[in-house]
Amino acid sequence: MPATALLDRPDDIAEAARLLRQGELVAFPTETVYGLGGDATNGRAVAAIFAAKGRPRFNPLISHLAAAGAAGDFAELDTRARYLAERFWPGPLTLVLRRRRDCAIALLASAGLDTVALRVPAHPVAQALLAAAGRPIAAPSANRSGRVSPTTAAHVRDELGDRIAAILDGGACRVGIESTVLDLSGERAVLLRPGSIAIETLAEAIGPIIPASAIDAATPQGPGMLASHYAPALPLRLDAAAALPGEIILAFGDAAIGKEIIWLSRSGNLEEAAANLFAALRDADRPGLAGIAVMPIPDAGLGAAINDRLRRAAAPRG
Ligand code: TXA
Ligand code: MG
Repeated sequence: MPATALLDRPDDIAEAARLLRQGELVAFPTETVYGLGGDATNGRAVAAIFAAKGRPRFNPLISHLAAAGAAGDFAELDTRARYLAERFWPGPLTLVLRRRRDCAIALLASAGLDTVALRVPAHPVAQALLAAAGRPIAAPSANRSGRVSPTTAAHVRDELGDRIAAILDGGACRVGIESTVLDLSGERAVLLRPGSIAIETLAEAIGPIIPASAIDAATPQGPGMLASHYAPALPLRLDAAAALPGEIILAFGDAAIGKEIIWLSRSGNLEEAAANLFAALRDADRPGLAGIAVMPIPDAGLGAAINDRLRRAAAPRG
């Protein structure tokens, strides 16, 4: 892989946008922290983000937009969401909203959920990049898994320098703490992550907001659930060599045996399998079948996150 380019001239925005459109990863500054960006509409690019971060599991990512007006292309906005978007975007607020049926953001960026996290960052370099890319950019904080979020281009280079195509240098981040994440996908507004906009400020605008810890304790449908994502209705059988009668098989590698086959990756490519995983689980979950068999997936790199997700989907449900 060629050395990571450090881009710090105004013309470099066009180059960074070109790389993103080609499916490459580019770190870029926002007013909160640096993000590790990839084309949110390209499942392979989103998979590459998880691989670069070394995340042991797929958690959903924030998709960044150039302007608030684009949010309605991807998600359903109710009155509360419209009001907050108008008031706080561009800015350090992330809204979790229901995905539109025709949402072009890869299901992997939603970790298989019916919701999508959107944010319009205020940093001028992020704004210019997003406008030039002309599509939503998925970006978690640009650190390796388990490390603190980076607030300078040098931090990003230390963390991920050998794993991404380019770093767009926009100086030190002004805010330095991540965006506030507010879930408006249900009737009650839920604070999923405290951040640089205070919960009181948001509550003044839309009324009561519940901390995620409160619903976790009160109901089994709390953030534990939010984190547990989509589980198919059919039973899942892992490490299957072949489909049993009535089963559909999710195949990895070219040796699949079964009447009905959905390919995670025919060539045995983990990035491709990750990109296809959540759509495949949904597609396989058909009435009239006995179950879903899944071929073995190597447990290295992205395979560990794929297997984590599959194990949780296969776990007995109460
Ligand atoms: O300031 C920030 O938010 C930075 C900059 C780069 O925008 N991004 C960031 O991303 O901190 P990340 O991936 O490190 O954190 C995203 C948070 C996670 O806590 C994730 O679980 C939550 O947002 N999240 C994203 N999509 C979600 C969804 N559909 N449902 C629930 N939580 C979601
Ligand atoms: Mg983070």
